[in-house]
Amino acid sequence: MFQINGKVALITGGAAGIGLATARELLENGAKGVAIIDINQQAGQKSLEDLRTVFGKERVIFIHADVASRKDFEEAFKRTVDTFHNIDILVNNAGIENDQDYEREIAVNLIGTTHGTLLALENYIANHKSGTEGVIINNASVAGTLVLPCLSVYCATKSAIVNLSLTLGHKVYYDRTKIKVLAIAPGQSDTNLKYNIKYRNEFDKANGERLMKNMVHQPAEFVAKQMVNLITEKPSGTVWVVKDHKEAYEYVPSSSGNIWV
Ligand SMILES: NC(=O)c1ccc[n+]([C@@H]2O[C@H](COP(=O)([O-])OP(=O)(O)OC[C@H]3O[C@@H](n4cnc5c(N)ncnc54)[C@H](O)[C@@H]3O)[C@@H](O)[C@H]2O)c1
Repeated sequence: MFQINGKVALITGGAAGIGLATARELLENGAKGVAIIDINQQAGQKSLEDLRTVFGKERVIFIHADVASRKDFEEAFKRTVDTFHNIDILVNNAGIENDQDYEREIAVNLIGTTHGTLLALENYIANHKSGTEGVIINNASVAGTLVLPCLSVYCATKSAIVNLSLTLGHKVYYDRTKIKVLAIAPGQSDTNLKYNIKYRNEFDKANGERLMKNMVHQPAEFVAKQMVNLITEKPSGTVWVVKDHKEAYEYVPSSSGNIWV
């Protein structure tokens, strides 16, 4: 079992929603340091102050960065290591739902997650973990395991994150890196994300809004607790659905028996 106590985490999109709730949960579980990375300077500053008030000034930093920029992401890793001397956990959480500006959506969701995962695997967690094991958890979505025609590009970015986690988390990698790579796939959760959805057209919007009405919402704090359980307990190369305010269950893609190694 991976221990949170004494470890250092970097959380993207950590200024709000599921990312901020995960920062709290990790600090409550004894993390030595947490770096919250966000593109929203104002929300990041406010969340930094709130977290420092509860958990102490030394345990939290905020870094203003855009995950779509490899340079920004690398700077964020460097500052985290400079401040806390280690990095053990990466939570690739930043994401947007914007099928109108699909290039930006792909850049933030998929390229951002890929930057973080590869930088951590090839350098920062590999060379700066404090124990024998590190963890990368990618926030996909249940939308990455389903067919949701109203948000086709969003779904495509999220199913790509599912596959990235299954492949880079595979035993052939883990045996070499000792860094677990896994993914969480939340269902509808109570955050600001749902107020900022940009559908590609009116047809998608009507379908999306109809679908949303029938969904069970779950608090971000519940998703964060599940996230921390997955970090501590679950093996590399696995993906976990957390929806309808219920315990996580594993998503096993139908092609999982067909792996070429
Ligand atoms: N809320 C849901 O229903 C739900 C369901 C499934 C998956 N998710 C996923 O969970 C993750 C977190 O979403 P949330 O619901 O907490 O939303 P949120 O909007 O509350 O938080 C997302 C945070 O990411 C930040 N961010 C956006 N683009 C960024 C960038 N380029 N660089 C750095 N930070 C950036 C935002 O400023 C914000 O603080 C996303 O990846 C989302 O796709 C959310």
